Amino acid sequence: MIDLALVPVAGWGTRMLPATKSQPKEMLPVGRKPIVQYVVEELVKSGIRQVLFITGQGKTSIENHFDIDAPLITYLRETGREEQLQELQFEREDVEYFYTRQRRQLGLGHAVLCGKAMIGAHPFVVALGDSIIGLNAESDIVSRMTSIFEREKADIVVCFEEVPSEEVVHYGIAKPKGTVGEIFELADLIEKPSVADAPSRLAVAARYVFSPVIFDALAETKPGKGGEIQLTDAIHILLKRGHKGIGVKLADHERRFDIGNFESYFQAFVEFALADPQYGAALHEHVRRLLN
Ligand code: UTP
Repeated sequence: MIDLALVPVAGWGTRMLPATKSQPKEMLPVGRKPIVQYVVEELVKSGIRQVLFITGQGKTSIENHFDIDAPLITYLRETGREEQLQELQFEREDVEYFYTRQRRQLGLGHAVLCGKAMIGAHPFVVALGDSIIGLNAESDIVSRMTSIFEREKADIVVCFEEVPSEEVVHYGIAKPKGTVGEIFELADLIEKPSVADAPSRLAVAARYVFSPVIFDALAETKPGKGGEIQLTDAIHILLKRGHKGIGVKLADHERRFDIGNFESYFQAFVEFALADPQYGAALHEHVRRLLN
């Protein structure tokens, strides 16, 4: 059973400046929680018990967030704030945290390669630290993917979301082998194709499972656009060599919230806030008044 996940959180987040100048993009709140807390809670629900963060400069608030804050707990207890104490329950998740730094921001593929020494010969999950799957992270996609990885004896399992055809230019896009159901075999993966060249509308959606053979492919991957080592290019190398790759489609209720730019951030925040059990209804009314 796969219980190890690598969570890259080392990117600059330049598309979200100035919000990300001195705080990590992954720590921006969506509704009540920082993005990366949703990611970890989703992983824990899927059986992950070891989380390796690939961090970088200016990311120490992520480490602080997952620490047990004893003085804060004592303060809340002594002042009778039991309700707020409940909000720190996530600190007690049954999970071990590890941190290493990506010392140069050479892309997502390079960030994954930074985990090689610790991960060694184990299969592992990669979950992007800036993407939430499903409203309030209600998704078991990772446990579905790890089961399929083991059952199919695959080297790569990638999660996909169907996007409108004009959006394929922003994502890694699947070239499926045969018919596409909820699960399908991958012939290839194409990074940011043109609309005309796209082999499907299935876009890579922030969750992966890999056998350690991915590290060999990453070590061979040449820097692409912007000098970055792309994870998609390493997957392409493995598929071309005949390694087995499986695609898994997100279900309708498992929309991917990719918090990479302000447009998607605003949409995600509004959607989570409107769904808040305590404040959602009043916010609904407020927004309705604003729009009228
Ligand atoms: P993005 O592709 O959104 O890149 O990263 P970015 O650098 O954070 O953002 P922009 O393009 O400058 O606005 C997807 C995930 O991969 C991590 C990011 O932290 C984010 O969680 N990442 C990206 C790394 O860990 N290292 C990198 O070199 C690039």
